Amino acid sequence: MINEKLEAAFNDQINKEFFSEYLYLAMKTYFMEQNLLGFVNWFDVQVQEEHAHAMGMFDYLNERGGKIELGAIEKPVVEGNCPLTIFEHVLRHEEFVTSRINALMDVAEEVKDRAAMQFLNWYLKEQVEEESTVGGVLATLRLIGDDKKALLMLDKDLAARTFVAPVIG
Ligand code: FEO
Repeated sequence: MINEKLEAAFNDQINKEFFSEYLYLAMKTYFMEQNLLGFVNWFDVQVQEEHAHAMGMFDYLNERGGKIELGAIEKPVVEGNCPLTIFEHVLRHEEFVTSRINALMDVAEEVKDRAAMQFLNWYLKEQVEEESTVGGVLATLRLIGDDKKALLMLDKDLAARTFVAPVIG
């Protein structure tokens, strides 16, 4: 049976992952309005990844005999009004998620739940990848500046991203 404090921390992170899904859906609407369909695809993949992250923890908590408590999902507010500032928000958000996964790992460590720590290692690695991917797009957007042609080229690149269901844990 999972420790109660750790159970609560997992439930909190499940909520944060669903919020991430919701936030990226909200960001996607900006790119839909701009008709930047490659970016729309990028956010579609991001939304699916966040859903998978939430469900990975949902299934794990159940497997460990924990009680799943789904809370209200906060209203997403997109900070930014252009691709660059929106991606700055994506990076800030991923850094926030990384800090939350680290805090969750701290709780697992505190209650000496080595199985949970091993499970959470996957999420820590995933966060390194997420921050690096977002940082890459952001660096390109900074290079692009006001060049519309270059933005359309990046849009084309982002259209190639595909969702691969992750094997979590
Ligand atoms: Fe679930 Fe983007 O971290």
